[in-house]
Amino acid sequence: MTKILAFSGSFSSDSINHQLVEYASSKIGTASVSVIRLSDFEAPIYTKEREREFGFPTPIEDLRKLFDEADGFILSTPEYNGSVPAGLKNTLDWISRMEGKIFQDKPVLLMAASRGGRGGKSVLDHLTTVLPFWGAKLIGPFGLPLFQQNFESGLLKEPFDTELQKLIFQFEEAL
Ligand SMILES: Cc1cc2nc3c(=O)[nH]c(=O)nc-3n(C[C@H](O)[C@H](O)[C@H](O)COP(=O)(O)O)c2cc1C
Repeated sequence: MTKILAFSGSFSSDSINHQLVEYASSKIGTASVSVIRLSDFEAPIYTKEREREFGFPTPIEDLRKLFDEADGFILSTPEYNGSVPAGLKNTLDWISRMEGKIFQDKPVLLMAASRGGRGGKSVLDHLTTVLPFWGAKLIGPFGLPLFQQNFESGLLKEPFDTELQKLIFQFEEAL
C-alpha cells in the first residue's frame, strides 16, 4: 500500500502544526499515513566534525529509513522569525548528508499554521522556493492563519477546509 510520512516542523509537544498534520492525515483515503514527531528523532546541531568522528546519529538513520519507505510526505511547519525553525532545518541538513535528495522526488504537501494573521507566509514563500531543490514535488502551499479561530474542536473552518481538501486531492493524484 502507498505510504505517507507526516510530520510537523515543530519540536513542541503542544504544536498547532502537529494538530494540522493530524487533521490533513485524517483526510487521506488512498494511502496509509504514519504521523511522527521530529522530537522523537532529535539530533545534535550538524557539524562536519560530528559527522566525521561519529557518523550519522542513530535517530537520523532511523528517520532516513522512514523517508526511504515513504511514497509522499505531509509537512506543516511553524514560522520562526520569518523563516524555517532550526530544529526542522537541522534535521533536514543531517538527512541531506546521506545519499540522494532529501525528499527523493516524491510529493510533499506543504502547510503552515500560525496563531497570527499571516499563516506563515514568509516561511511558505521560502520553502516554496527551496523545496524543489530538496527533491520535493511540491503540492501547495497551504497557510492557516489565526489558528485558534479557524481550527475549532478539531475541525477546520471554511474556506480553509475546502482549500485543503483540493490540495489533498492533488497530493493523492501525485502519489
Ligand atoms: C522563536 C520564535 C519565533 C517566531 N516567529 C514567528 C514569525 O516570524 N511569524 C509568526 O507568524 N509566528 C512566529 N512565532 C510564533 C509561532 O508561529 C507560534 O509559537 C506557533 O504556535 C508555533 O507553532 P507550533 O505550535 O506548531 O510549535 C515565533 C515563535 C517563536 C518561539
